Formats: sequence, C-alpha cells, structure tokens
Amino acid sequence: MVLGIETSCDETGVALVRGHDLLVDVTASSMDAHARFGGIVPEVASRAHLEAFEPTLKEALARAGVHLEDVGAIAVTSGPGLVGSLTVGVAAAKALAMGLDVPLYGVNHVLGHVAVDVLVHGPFPEKFLGLVVSGGHTSLLLIRDIATDVVELGQTLDDAAGEAFDKVGRLLGLPYPGGPHVDRLAQEGSAEAFAFPRGLTRPKDQAAHAYNFSFSGLKTAVARVVESFEDAGADVPAADIAASFSEAVADVLITKTVAACREHEVDTVVIGGGFSANSRLRELAAERFNAEGITLRLPPVRYCTDNGAMIAALGSAVVDADLPPSPWEFTTDSAMELTRVLAGT
Ligand code: KG4
Ligand code: ZN
Repeated sequence: MVLGIETSCDETGVALVRGHDLLVDVTASSMDAHARFGGIVPEVASRAHLEAFEPTLKEALARAGVHLEDVGAIAVTSGPGLVGSLTVGVAAAKALAMGLDVPLYGVNHVLGHVAVDVLVHGPFPEKFLGLVVSGGHTSLLLIRDIATDVVELGQTLDDAAGEAFDKVGRLLGLPYPGGPHVDRLAQEGSAEAFAFPRGLTRPKDQAAHAYNFSFSGLKTAVARVVESFEDAGADVPAADIAASFSEAVADVLITKTVAACREHEVDTVVIGGGFSANSRLRELAAERFNAEGITLRLPPVRYCTDNGAMIAALGSAVVDADLPPSPWEFTTDSAMELTRVLAGT
C-alpha cells in the first residue's frame, strides 16, 4: 500500500493506493484564501499546507479504515511546483517514512497527472501519449513506461493553457480563476466570431516547434480586441471572444496531439491536468480522435485537478518498476524536468 502526498500548489492531497486500486483520496484546497488576490500567494499556500496536512492524513486513514503502520511505501511530490508548498509535503513525507521505516520516493508532479489514469482505466498500453494541461503546465509526452521511459515531445514556451484562460478571464472582468468562467461564457458565443492566432502552427515552426505551444500571442490578440471595443465605447462581445479564444486553444492542443500520434504511431492519448475540464477541449478531442481511430483516456475531473491519488499512483508504478527509493537527502525541485520521474536519482 502506497501513501501519496501532494502539496505542490494550493491543494493538500493525501491518498492510498494498492496496486491499481485507489483506497482513498482526500484533498483540502486553499484556493478560497487566494481568490481575492487574483492568483496563488505562495506564503499563504505553504501555511495552509502546514495546517491542513495532519487532518487530511488522519481523514484519509480513517476513511480507508487502515493504520499508518499498514503503509508499505510513501510517494511525495518533489517538483515541479512552489518551493514552500513542496517543502511542507517533502518534510512531512520524510518524517513519516523515517518513523515508519518504509521507502520514500520523491516523484514528478506532472507525470502524476498521467499516472492517475491507471486507477480509472486500468493498465496503460505499450506506447501512448500524455497531454498534461493545467494552470502551470502544457506538455506533450511520449510514454512507453510511466516509471522509466518518458520522452518530452514539447511544452509551452510561455503561458500554460489554464494560465492563458485565467488571463483572458481577467481581461473579460471575470473572477479568478477565470478558466471555468471563460469556459461557461464560451457556450453562449460563436467560435467563428474572431479569427484568433494559433501559436507555433505555421510551416516554418514545424522544424523546431512541431510539438511546442505558445499562448501569449493569442492572449495579446484577445487584449487588442477587448481594447478596440472599449475604445469605441461599445459593449465588449465577451461570449464571442470567449468562444473564439477557447476554439483557438483547443484547436492547437488537439491538432498537435493528433500530429504526434501519427508521427509516433500511437493510438492512445491520456489527457490530465485541471484544464482537461475544458468543455471545448473535451468535445474536440472526442471528435478528432474518433475520426483518427485514437482512444482517448480522460480521468474524471476530480482526478485531473491536483490530488494525492496521482502521486500514489505514480509511486505505485515506481515500486512496480523496482526503482530505488530517493536518498534521504533529496530535496524539492521547483523546476523538476519532465523526463525525470524520481528525485535524487
Ligand atoms: O491542475 P490544476 O487544478 O492546477 C494546476 O496545477 O495548475 O489546473 C487549474 C487550471 C486553472 O488555470 C483553471 O483556470 C483551469 O485549470 N481550468 C479551466 C477549466 N477548469 C479549470 N480552464 C478552462 N476551462 C475549464 N473548464
Ligand atoms: Zn498539477
């Protein structure tokens, strides 16, 4: 039984996994404390983890009906993320692992967003793509084994997909985090109203950036359109802007993912991360993957946002692969590389 601990951002997550079975998954979020600042405040997040960790752990054990002594290994997010938040989780995990005398694995948060799907849809195929989209990441990965063989095909060169939505939410006067609000507004607008740019999709980008993403030009284009209506004293057509913007983001993500499937002869894609809740992304993925004969594995939204189950799932995969535990002196790694599964190895 693997105990998973996640504290990389604003969610304190604790979960227990046995093999591919999720026993319990408990999450405490400090998002309400950040909302009025219009973004995550790192010090507030670290303090919230400190306060939430023990109650969250106790609740997880109680709900699963197990004791700490039943835990066989511990996995904790060592990066990427906010260094103060990560430190709370890593310190707690080290104390528990030392006290219980069990192996400790410092694991990669981004790969956890992919690994969690095993708990929902069962074992992974021999080769598949992982598309991790959230407020902090937009990465396309070619995976043969989630614990030992991950190749990064591309990532965002500037904003993450969720971050771009949050910024557009702010431009349209919506509350933070803007992503879900922009998504909702988009349902009432026309995706064809504005021809927004698709970053890094021109033929000349193919050589160096076939699978990289860029959303900052798109965000600027949205800002220009909003300004032009405001300057003219006209009402800003927020729903049409939201719909056309959502279309541009989903189109780029799915077009590049389909191209990578063709190039690497892959027929399965796992999508993870909080942004995978986006309705246009879900629709377009279902539509285009279906046309290409690609199987889409998309966990329910509660496993796409940050949680302990994703870390326990990756920990379980690492144990299965017989990888050595992280050394005691391993630390947080706020910029941990995506191809690195374990800290300190
Ligand atoms: O994975 P997550 O919970 O936290 C990070 O690790 O970032 O992702 C949250 C991000 C935020 O930027 C949020 O605005 C965005 O995902 N998001 C959405 C939607 N739901 C969440 N963006 C667009 N449409 C949504 N439905
Ligand atoms: Zn995340």
